[in-house]
Order: sequence, then structure tokens, then C-alpha cells
Amino acid sequence: MKKFYITTPIYYVNAEPHIGSAYTTIMADIVARYKRMMGYDVFFLTGTDEHGLKILQSAKKKGKDVREFCDELAGKFKELWKDLKITNDYFIRTTDPDHEETVKFFVRKMVENGDVYKGKYSGWYCVHCETYYDEDEVEEIDGKKVCPVCKREVKWVEEENYFFKLSKYNEPLKKLFEENPDFVEPEFRKNEMLKILEKGLKDISITRTTFKWGIPFPGDEKHVIYVWVDALINYVSALGYGRKDSEKMKYWPADVHLIGKEINRFHSLIWPAMLMSAGLDLPRKVFAHGWLTVNGQKISKSLGNAVDPREFVKKYGNDVVRYYLVRDIVFGKDGDFSEEKLVNRLNADLANDYGNLLHRTLAMVKKYFNSSVPSPGKSGGMDDELKKRTEETVNSYIELMDSLRLTEAVEKVWEYISFLNTYFDRERPWILAKEKNEERLSAVLYNTLEGILKVAMMAMPIMPDTSEKVLRRIGFNEEIKPEPLTSWGVLKSGSRAIHGKPLFEKIDVKKLKKVAEVKKLEEKDNIITIDEFGKVDLRVAKILKAERVEGSEKLIKMEIDVGELGKRTLVGGLAKHYTPEELVGKLIIVVANLKPRKLFGIESQGMLLAAKIGDKMKLLTVEGEIEPGAKIS
Ligand code: MSP
Repeated sequence: MKKFYITTPIYYVNAEPHIGSAYTTIMADIVARYKRMMGYDVFFLTGTDEHGLKILQSAKKKGKDVREFCDELAGKFKELWKDLKITNDYFIRTTDPDHEETVKFFVRKMVENGDVYKGKYSGWYCVHCETYYDEDEVEEIDGKKVCPVCKREVKWVEEENYFFKLSKYNEPLKKLFEENPDFVEPEFRKNEMLKILEKGLKDISITRTTFKWGIPFPGDEKHVIYVWVDALINYVSALGYGRKDSEKMKYWPADVHLIGKEINRFHSLIWPAMLMSAGLDLPRKVFAHGWLTVNGQKISKSLGNAVDPREFVKKYGNDVVRYYLVRDIVFGKDGDFSEEKLVNRLNADLANDYGNLLHRTLAMVKKYFNSSVPSPGKSGGMDDELKKRTEETVNSYIELMDSLRLTEAVEKVWEYISFLNTYFDRERPWILAKEKNEERLSAVLYNTLEGILKVAMMAMPIMPDTSEKVLRRIGFNEEIKPEPLTSWGVLKSGSRAIHGKPLFEKIDVKKLKKVAEVKKLEEKDNIITIDEFGKVDLRVAKILKAERVEGSEKLIKMEIDVGELGKRTLVGGLAKHYTPEELVGKLIIVVANLKPRKLFGIESQGMLLAAKIGDKMKLLTVEGEIEPGAKIS
């Protein structure tokens, strides 16, 4: 069996996954499912990138232990992929001990090959992108040096580091690009890489000494391996390279590394050079897709538009979101995600073109053939054209999918659906029924069903649940193999068809717009509903003990009594306003159902309320005496 190995980037666990990370994973899933359907032995890898300064800082900011922080976020990625029905064969984490073992082995190979030396590094560093930049690469905004990719401020770094002789591989890389013109796609992305090679690659620093959150450099444990070197090696460590359990190395080299455009240089230049140095085969292709914006804006946490794909999956269904993404965002180019466009696609392409075709065909099979798939009948009318068109569509679909032109492949399928609708309309089965022309009636319905079978199969990698449903409804209950796609007349006459409910429900776009407008107004005025307010559990609590938190100027740790809810620990920023002695005995108001969080290593189980103006701060309390635990409403 032919093998196929596809990877996504491993995502940083500094924040929760959003529609951007889901985009790459869904596209990779489409390719993986397609290859499986075509009979390949597929290995599909995704995972998380967990070392480096960025993750360390994010964990610290949240007051969390870095390992716990990584576990929590890696879990969120895993959960999301499960919810989105992603069919990855493995999930790698760079904090896995197995990965660490492979990274050390790999780096040792590079050292043995004479490609690593000690030197002094000085230059700019972007923590967000975990990327080094030369003076001529950084940009300047408002007098500040910023990263050319994410525009965040860069830091000046001076360290004694180990370097990788990347420059040595400039010529071999040029040769690789010459001999494999499709190595990097799309072509304009390849040209960007060629320009860098023309300018000439410089050696890169591959270790850091100023923090410890990484894999120790073999032989000099003062250094940790640069997070990008650590991360890229995931593609072979997931297969067991350099370890005892290396039988999965049969999948190497990767057939496609699917990535976003901003990390192309790492995958198309640095990674192949590292592989050459370690003496491994090179990946067959790097495909760098474009970036998604949301309603025209860059996706960012601070803009609050880091859309959780689950929101849309819940509302419209997983298959609809997948279809919309692959159809509307031309694969390889930048594109914009918008709910309105998604709904338009749902209404037009799915409910109208596809859903109606199935519905009206099955309605007639039910009416005239008692829901049993009719016989192929007598050939005539547009039948030959339909068969020719089917063959052409299937052939170009396969060619386009194989060359990762996913959007075009889907377009072809929907052009074919449109043709099937024309076929049905022109052949007018309702007239054939009236005329009692049973041979032609059964032929037209059979052929349309057979066409729908091809559609369901071609759409299988994109809309797996819908396709399964459609196949069942048209009476096709066999195993999914390439043959039913490539040969005509597969449906068995006499199998049971199921009419059922429409495949997709249409959405009223006008209503949707109104809801969005109201939501916007509410957000603008900061209005919440009574139900939202009702979720906050406010209680009276009595401070039993209070002491300053060591090492912090602001924080005071308190033990409070919340009546029926028991005793709790609370940490609050009160030290500049109250002494611990002043606090003991006070009745305060607390939010009792807030998720606990750690501050200076102490878990705070709630939040107290206080009024604040300028530097002044006063605790909220109640008039007179009341039992601790009293509810505030
Ligand atoms: N950890 C590195 C990758 C190491 S691979 C050896 C990294 N991680 S990341 O979390 O920043 O993820 C980057 C990838 O997420 C992009 O390359 C892209 O695949 C995906 N996307 C993140 N935001 C995206 C959009 N707004 N649009 C499309 N894809 C996006 O870089």
C-alpha cells in the first residue's frame, strides 16, 4: 500500500486555539481523509509546541506552573480536534520525553557532522514569533524596533550560543529547489524563498542560556535548544526517529508539510538544511497557505475576534463550517471569515443546489418506485453527456486534490451538482411518470442517484457526516473505496432508499443580520441580560485572618468565612490600602463562584468587591450585622 504522511504545524500553547489554527488542521484533515479514501496508508500528525520564552512568559503571566499551563492548553487543542472530528493519527507534544530523546539524538548528529560551533550572538529577537532578526530585517514604528512579521517590539539579545552552519547549505538548498520545482507551493511562496537563497543564508543561533524552559543541549547543559529547532524535529520524533520504537519511520519523508505562510522560511530552508546535516531524506513538499482574517480584521486576542470554531459548529454543523472554509477561502491565498458568507454558502450551495437535488430525486424514488433504487432502465436523452461529464469531473477532482488545489476541486464538484440539476430538469421525470414511460423514468432517477453517489464520495473528505448520510439514503451501504468513484453503474437496483428530511436547513440572512446588530448595540452599551447577571454568586463573607503575601507589594492573603459555602482563601490587592490588622473582622462582599486562580503560587477562591478611584480604594461592606454566606441579590 502506498504511504502518505501529512503534518500541520505544531501550535504554540500560549493561547487557546482559534479559527486560524483550526483552518490549517481542517485543511490537513481534508487531505488526509481524501488520501485514505483513495487507498493510501496515511499518517496524519498534529500537536503542540510547548517550549521557549513565549510559553514561559505566558504561564508566568497567568501565575501558573509552566508544565501545568502546557498540560491545560494542550488538552484544549486535543479537545477541539475531537470536537471537529479531526482524524489525526498522532498528537505530539514537545514536552514528551520521547520527543526530547529524539531532539538530542538529532542535534548530536548535526554536531557529529561538524555543523555546530560556539559563538557570540547579538541581534534582535521577537519573543512572539520566537525569531531572530538582523538589523536590516527589523522595522521601526514610533521610534521602536518591531518584528517585521507580527509588528511587536523586538528585544536586543547578546549571548554566547551554539550556531548551526546554515550558510553551508545555501548551495545544496538552491539545488534542491532547482531539481524539485514543486518543493514549495504555491509558486509565489517558492519565489520568496529563492530570493532569500539569492541573498545568501547566514548561520543561525540554535541555543539559549537566559532561561531553562527547553531541551538541554547535549554536552553543554547550560544551554537549551532553540525552540524552533526543537519544534521542527517533531516531524520525525513523532515517528520514533533515533529511538527504539522507530518502526513508524517508514512514513518518512513527509509528503506534505502544511503550514501558514509566516513560517515558510523555517520549513522550506532551515528544516531541509537540518535534515541534510542529520543525513535524513527531505520532505516532498511544503505547502504554505494564506492567512485568515475575521470580518476583514487580523485575528488577535486583543481585538477580541479570536473566534472559537465551536461556536459556528454548534450553530451550523461541522460539515458546513468545513465546506465554507475550503470553498470560500481559496486554498493558498489569504481570505476572510465571515458568518454572513458562511450562511450564504449554506443557503445557496448546500441547501439549494445539493440538498434539493437529493430531496426531489428521493421524493420521486419514493413516489414511483416505493423507495427502492430503480433499474438503470433505457439509455437516451442526456445520459451519455452525463456519463462523460461524470468521468471528466472525477478525473479533474482527483488531479486537483492530488495537487492540493482544494478549492478548485470543490468548485468542480459543485459545477457537477449544477449539471445534475440541469439533467434532472431537462429530462423532466415528472412528465415521464405522467406518460408512464417507466424505462426512461427509472433511467433518469437511477442516473441522478448514481451522480449523487459520486458527489457524496467526492465530498466525503470535506463533509464526512453529510456524505455518509447521503450514501445511506441513496441505498449505498458498501465500504468506501476508490472504485465506486471511478466507475459508473455502482448503485444496486432494488436497494432501499430513504427520503427523509432535507439535508440542510436554510437560514434567514435578514434575521441573522438583525441579531448581529442587536448584539453589537448591547456590546457597545455594555448591557447584559438578567440571566447573565444571575450567574454571578455574590455573598457576604467575614475576614477571619489576613497577612501580607511574601514578595509582593500589593497582595494580602485572607481566610474568609462564607457561611454555608465554608471557609476559603482569598488573595486581594489591598496591601497599599489596608493593613492586615484592619481587615480582620470586616464583613465584605465576594464573588463566590469565580474560577479559582493562582496568585504568587496561592490559589485564590473568589474575588472581593471594592470601590476604586485614582489611588484610593475602599472595600464594599454591608450595613449592620448579617450572617456570613448571606446571598446578595
Ligand atoms: N509553533 C510554531 C510552529 C512550529 S511548526 C514546527 C507556530 N505556532 S502557531 O501557534 O503560531 O501556529 C501557527 C500556525 O497556525 C500558522 O502557520 C497557521 O498554520 C495557523 N494559523 C494561525 N493563525 C492563522 C490565521 N489567522 N489564518 C490561517 N492560519 C493561521 O508558529
